[in-house]
Amino acid sequence: MSLSKSSLTPTLHFFLAGLSITVLALLVSVTGAQEAKPAGAAAKSAASAPVARGKYIVEDVAMCGNCHTPRLPNGELDNSRWLAGASVPYLPAWPEGSWPIMAPRIAGRPPASDAQMITLLTTAIWVEGKPLRDPMPHFHMTRADAEAVLAYLKSLAGGRDQSQ
Ligand code: HEC
Repeated sequence: MSLSKSSLTPTLHFFLAGLSITVLALLVSVTGAQEAKPAGAAAKSAASAPVARGKYIVEDVAMCGNCHTPRLPNGELDNSRWLAGASVPYLPAWPEGSWPIMAPRIAGRPPASDAQMITLLTTAIWVEGKPLRDPMPHFHMTRADAEAVLAYLKSLAGGRDQSQ
C-alpha cells in the first residue's frame, strides 16, 4: 500500500501540472479569440449581407412562405409564386369570428412604409395600431433582423400593385 501510494504521488503531481497548463492554455485561447473578434464584427458582417440574412429568416426561421405562398394541387408550396399571397392554409381550432382567408402578397414592393413594416416585425403592431389577426404570428424581431427581412422582401420581384 505504502509503495503504491508513493509511486502515485508523482503521477498525481504530473497530472495536476498538466491540468493547470491545459487551463492556462484554454484561458489564453479564449482571451485570444475575444481579441481576434472585436465587438461589432458580427454586426458588421450581418450589415454587409442583410438580404441573405433576411432570406434565411423568412425561409428557415419565421417560415413566412407557409402562409404567404400559394400551394400546388398536391399541397406543396408553389415556389414560382413565392410570397405572392395565398389562401390561409390553417383553420382555427376553436370558433373564431374574424379568421382571415388570405395572407396577402409580401414579395416585392411592401404593402406599407418601411417604418410600418419594421414596426410590424419588431412589435407585431400593424398600420391600424393593433396586431394583425391570427394566424399571422406576433413577431418581436430585433431591429436588425426586421431590416434584413424587409431588405430581402424588397429584393424580390413584383409588388402589390403590379400583380395579384
Ligand atoms: C402562420 C401563417 C403566417 C405566417 C407564418 C406569416 N404570416 Fe404574415 N400574415 C398571415 C395572415 C393570415 C395575414 C393576414 C392577417 C389579417 O388579415 O389580419 C398576414 C398578414 C401579413 C402582413 C400584412 C399584409 C397586408 O397587406 O395587410 C404582412 C406585412 C405580413 N403578414 C408579413 C409576414 C412576414 C414578413 C412573415 C415572416 C417573417 C409572415 N408574415 C409570416 C399569415 C402568416
